[in-house]
Amino acid sequence: MREEHSIVTGIHHCTICVGAAQEDIDFMTKVIGQRMIKQTVLFDGTAPIYHLYYANKNAEIGTVMTTFPFKQAGVFGRRGTGQIAATAYSVSENAIQTFWPGHLDKHGVKHSGLQKRFGQTYIRFSEPSGNVYELVGDDRDKRAGWTTDEISEVNSVKGFNATIMSVRELEGQHDYLTIGLGFEKSATDGKYTRYDIQGGGPCKTVILEHNPDTKAGTWTFGAGTPHHVAFAVANDEVQAKLKAYVEGLGYTDASESKDRNYFHSVYNRSPGGILCEFSTTSGVAQASSTDRTTYKTSERTGTAVLLVG
Ligand SMILES: [Fe+2]
Repeated sequence: MREEHSIVTGIHHCTICVGAAQEDIDFMTKVIGQRMIKQTVLFDGTAPIYHLYYANKNAEIGTVMTTFPFKQAGVFGRRGTGQIAATAYSVSENAIQTFWPGHLDKHGVKHSGLQKRFGQTYIRFSEPSGNVYELVGDDRDKRAGWTTDEISEVNSVKGFNATIMSVRELEGQHDYLTIGLGFEKSATDGKYTRYDIQGGGPCKTVILEHNPDTKAGTWTFGAGTPHHVAFAVANDEVQAKLKAYVEGLGYTDASESKDRNYFHSVYNRSPGGILCEFSTTSGVAQASSTDRTTYKTSERTGTAVLLVG
């Protein structure tokens, strides 16, 4: 195994553009039962756009969903290939069988019903602006889910299970994941191909969804479309090593390392079109507290937009 293939350790966070802020907060906290942990603003560009962060009980890396509510700016995206198809969260097999279909029904969320892929039960649904989520029954995932009045610990969402990428052709993205990042192809099931990193399992899985007849979606920020998936790397040193390695392969569409407050990020456009990020889990140079390597929980953790100047 190449040394560079041990750098990516799993999913770090996922980021999508949604509709209205309060609508997203309601959906994430009440329907999916996530804990709102942080609110900042979009660092790129000049538009005043909120950046909302949600996670599990312990706000662990690998559970953090972040959203940019773009509806207010009047900017909308177009879904398609070359994008994240769905972000999949883990729940227990019992929870997906007995709780989640009814819970989604209760909130008026249309869903796929219980489906099977790679021998696992999953259910697919969209948030109000059109981004797709899945819940996957996976009893291997023992992370501590956040609980709400409606969602008990046994039914709670544990964290990310997988990211699912929609591609028109499999070959280029296969090469990027395997030769570039060190994933191993582990299974195929119809239009789905599964890739594992570091043994696979919850948060260590990428699934390609082959949609050869679907037009490409937009890459811009825009309500209703995903923006990127971030993969976890230990620190600045290995992040630089991975950037140099993928650039050497020819994947030269890679950014400089950017300071994202809680971590440092390199963005790399993958050949399937999906924007990938390599985010550090520790060793952030300007760390000012011991809590900087995880997401510091906001004192105003809650269920409403906190208006700031
Ligand atoms: Fe990111």
